[in-house]
Amino acid sequence: MPPVLALDGPSGSGKGTIGQICALKFGWHYLDSGAIYRGLAWLANSKSVAADDVAGLVALAESMSLVCHVQTDDVAQIEINGRIVTDDLRTEETGEMASKIAPLGSVRAALLAMQRRCRRTPGLVADGRDMGTVVFPDAEFKVFLTASAEIRAQRRFDQLKSKGFDVNLARLLESIQARDVRDSSRAESPLKPADDAYVLDTSALSIDEVVACIMDHVNQR
Ligand code: DC
Repeated sequence: MPPVLALDGPSGSGKGTIGQICALKFGWHYLDSGAIYRGLAWLANSKSVAADDVAGLVALAESMSLVCHVQTDDVAQIEINGRIVTDDLRTEETGEMASKIAPLGSVRAALLAMQRRCRRTPGLVADGRDMGTVVFPDAEFKVFLTASAEIRAQRRFDQLKSKGFDVNLARLLESIQARDVRDSSRAESPLKPADDAYVLDTSALSIDEVVACIMDHVNQR
């Protein structure tokens, strides 16, 4: 099987940016698994499939195809069923729906095979919440990124501000804290480091420093 770098962590821990840089450095494929949940949420909203219609969600999941196009200086461009939908996936409405459907066991099961199919030669960098614990438990490299909620809220604020969005730091912090609780306390695939993960607190580190730590970790192994 091709090698996998599983990169997990909470919302705003920098997984997306770091994951893409690592994928480019290694020349590997990149999977933004959050985009899969957001993608299904967006499809469900656009086809009026409700968050409690589990059979409808599973059918949508099984018909969904997703490609992550790595960018050198921005979030990955996400293509769903042949259409670039990156901006649609980032709306509050899509994020809300994603967090409602992500805890559903049969939805997660329906999305498992799609994620595992991304493991192609020469290798895969996969970012998410359960890459090292559930999707790729046999990954060669497992990294769990953390950072304080305040730092993550500030990073998200800077990122959205630079794109011209009107954002409120206190509200972002509240929503990050609420999402942390939801992601960590759910029964299905909760957010937690794998027993064999390298846990890295990025609160005081720059992007380059985080990438350097991950490279050191990978080279040591
Ligand atoms: O990382 P993100 O904000 O794009 O994730 C969107 C939602 O999907 C969020 O509610 C957490 C969920 N998610 C998940 O349950 N498992 C993953 N592997 C990735 C994301």
